[in-house]
Amino acid sequence: MDASDATRSRLRSLPVFAGVEATGFPEKGLPDNPLPVVADWIFAAHAAGQQEPHAMSLCTVVPAGVPSSRVLIVKDIDDDRLYFATPSDSRKGREIAANPNVSAHFHWPAVGRQVRIVGTAADAGRAASEADFAERGRGSRLAAHLHRPGSPADRAAVLAEFERLGTVHPEEVPCPPGWTLYGITPTEVELWEASADRVHHRVVYRGEDGAWRRELLWP
Ligand SMILES: Cc1cc2nc3c(=O)[nH]c(=O)nc-3n(C[C@H](O)[C@H](O)[C@H](O)COP(=O)(O)O)c2cc1C
Repeated sequence: MDASDATRSRLRSLPVFAGVEATGFPEKGLPDNPLPVVADWIFAAHAAGQQEPHAMSLCTVVPAGVPSSRVLIVKDIDDDRLYFATPSDSRKGREIAANPNVSAHFHWPAVGRQVRIVGTAADAGRAASEADFAERGRGSRLAAHLHRPGSPADRAAVLAEFERLGTVHPEEVPCPPGWTLYGITPTEVELWEASADRVHHRVVYRGEDGAWRRELLWP
């Protein structure tokens, strides 16, 4: 057995959907708007012991069509949008400025559920961004000032700069000009729940003419 066979066999022996407590797909009781369901599912996953249930992967796409993903924390969900915060001159911020089409994805192994969101991201405005920044912990606020282009000389230079920022801002930490709260306005939300018999349950909502249309999908 060579190394790639060993990797393959180890990967294939890992369990999937292990220990999932089926919460029961609420198909009949689904509301017209999917966004409150996303919030409900985050809290249901938390109640089932899922760590960081409010972490989602966000995929951006450059105009040439090349995608990239990273994990972000969802800061709020209202009836129209899901919100996250990040520097506007980060890779994702620059990619959104060039192409606002994004996809977000949640996976909650503790409840065997995932949600796919497709939509567009836009700056939620200066006041909202500053309000988000003000609610962050001191370490996160200082760390936001570490964001800059180029490469540090080494890790020690990063830690020294973090320390310096702490002395420059002993109390108030100003909101960096690029700190931005983004709202994702979804055009599609798919709710997915695992079933022990592998006949998984899927419902997709699609936004059309200002209203949501909902349909069941084949697993
Ligand atoms: C659990 C988790 C939560 C994160 N939350 C955020 C966040 O809310 N905002 C953020 O800018 N980066 C967050 N990050 C870091 C991002 O994943 C990413 O590395 C960083 O934003 C740079 O992304 P970019 O180069 O694609 O712009 C988080 C990472 C993890 C693992």
